[in-house]
Amino acid sequence: MNRELPVADRRRRFLGKTCLVTGGSRGLGLAAAQAFAREGARVVIIARDPDQLKIAAELIGDGTVTVAADLSSVAGIKAAISEVAAQVDRVDAAYINAGHAGMKRLDDIDEATWDRVFDTNVKGSFFLMQALRPLLAPGGAVVFCGSAAGRRASAGTARTEPARPRWST
Ligand SMILES: NC(=O)c1ccc[n+]([C@@H]2O[C@H](COP(=O)([O-])OP(=O)(O)OC[C@H]3O[C@@H](n4cnc5c(N)ncnc54)[C@H](OP(=O)(O)O)[C@@H]3O)[C@@H](O)[C@H]2O)c1
Repeated sequence: MNRELPVADRRRRFLGKTCLVTGGSRGLGLAAAQAFAREGARVVIIARDPDQLKIAAELIGDGTVTVAADLSSVAGIKAAISEVAAQVDRVDAAYINAGHAGMKRLDDIDEATWDRVFDTNVKGSFFLMQALRPLLAPGGAVVFCGSAAGRRASAGTARTEPARPRWST
C-alpha cells in the first residue's frame, strides 16, 4: 500500500464495481453515493426530483448515472430498473435507502403519512430488490437502510420507518 497517497485514494474497494443507491440525491443516500464514488465505484442513483438528481450527480462525480423515478409503486420500480438496465450491464452493490424518516407525534400520524412511508420504505424496498435481482452480479450485495428507532423509542414521538424487508440468498 502506498502510504504517500491520501486515505481516500488508498481504499479503492469499489474500483470497477457499479453501486446503486436509491434515494441517492440527498441526505444519507447522497453521502453513501459519494463514499462509493470515492472508493472507485461507478454510481447509479435513483430519486424522484430530476433537478436534485442533477445536483447530486455533480457532487458525486463524472460517470454518475441518474434515474428519475418514483419507487413507491411497482410500476415506478419496473420503469426505474429498465432504465438502469439500459445504462449498466450489472449492479455489484445496492443500498436501498429511499424512504421517509416518518417521525411525528403519535396524534399527528395520519393515513396519508402511513401510506407514504410504508409504500416507499417497505413495499418499495421489497419490490425494488425483486426487480433488481436479475441485474445483480454474482456475489453482489444488497443492503437495506434501517433505523435504530426500531429498537429504541423516543419520548413523545411515534416512528413509522423502522420496518424494512430482509433478504438472504
Ligand atoms: N434521517 C434520519 O434521522 C433517519 C433515521 C432513521 C432512518 N432513516 C432512513 O434513512 C433513509 C434516508 O433518510 P434521509 O434522512 O437521508 O432522507 P432524505 O434526506 O429525506 O432523503 C430521502 C431520499 O429518498 C428519495 N425518495 C423519497 N421518496 C422516494 C420515492 N417515492 N421514490 C424515489 N425516491 C424517493 C428522496 O428523493 P426525492 O424526494 O427526490 O424522491 C431522497 O433522495 C430513509 O429511508 C429513512 O427512513 C433516516
